[in-house]
Amino acid sequence: EVGASASPEHGLAELHVHIEGTLEPELILELAERNNIDFPHSDLDELRARYEFTELQSFLDLYYANMDVLRTAEDFSDLARAYLARAARAGVTRAEFFFDPQAHVVRGVPLTEVVEGLSDAVAAAHREFGVDAAMIASIVRDHPVPDAHEILGELLRLQAPIIGLGLDSAEVGYPPSLFEDVFARARAEGLRITAHAGEEGPPEYVWQALDLLGAERIDHGIRSLEDPALVARLVDEQIPLTACPLSNVRLRVVDSLAVHPLRRMLDAGLAVCVNSDDPAYFGGYVDDVFAALHDQLGLTVDERNTLARNSIRAAFT
Ligand code: ADE
Ligand code: ZN
Repeated sequence: EVGASASPEHGLAELHVHIEGTLEPELILELAERNNIDFPHSDLDELRARYEFTELQSFLDLYYANMDVLRTAEDFSDLARAYLARAARAGVTRAEFFFDPQAHVVRGVPLTEVVEGLSDAVAAAHREFGVDAAMIASIVRDHPVPDAHEILGELLRLQAPIIGLGLDSAEVGYPPSLFEDVFARARAEGLRITAHAGEEGPPEYVWQALDLLGAERIDHGIRSLEDPALVARLVDEQIPLTACPLSNVRLRVVDSLAVHPLRRMLDAGLAVCVNSDDPAYFGGYVDDVFAALHDQLGLTVDERNTLARNSIRAAFT
């Protein structure tokens, strides 16, 4: 059976998932009530009706608005536990999830609440869910550059148990080059580096992520295909690309799953793996991604196994 979970005998890593993007509508309403927040869309159907996107920014607007219900360490812990339980059911054995510290600090949520809640869930993940979990702090690239320096400093000062630093949010107009110094400091502190690049932005941003930030993985990277010299480099150095096919369809990076270049990426020898990105927003968790690829792209057992093997190889372990 091809559709369901991926290669359970060898494991599956999910390396590109934003924990705030796993915030399901039901949990939004539950947390709004628990925290006495007058949430503007208090009805599930009314909330769900808003999950229609035209590009990355239209998604980000809802993603940041919905986060308002996340206030306490308990909220963040509940959020991460719900994801890890669901990821385990999807066959995930290793999860490296992003969180956006700046998105919470700007709302007045103390960084300690965020880090304590998430790290509680991570510490218990192996025992509770059989998932080996780790956290990657992500720089919100459309916030001021000095904020990025400040949040990295705070994370280091708190000795937050993060394994790496990422770069996300609105891409076009916010090139990796802006953050060269922030990532140099992260590398000097021993953090692993990954960056969103080539999702909506040009191949040039992928080059910058590699050469200026020292990225060891590229998140999305789908637009790399427009630049043959870049593809050659990515293949040569076997730099992992964490593709998110359902996200690409919902954010209209591609017209449909049937025309997604995933197979072209595999055939080119790119070290690609598949991930859910923001599963509460884009139609499913990583088992749903594999099932959709089977149904709509005719993904074979061999291809599925290659994707799973690539994910394990690309993990920061
Ligand atoms: N933050 C959450 N999901 C994202 C995505 N797909 N691209 C950029 N930033 C994000
Ligand atoms: Zn992402």
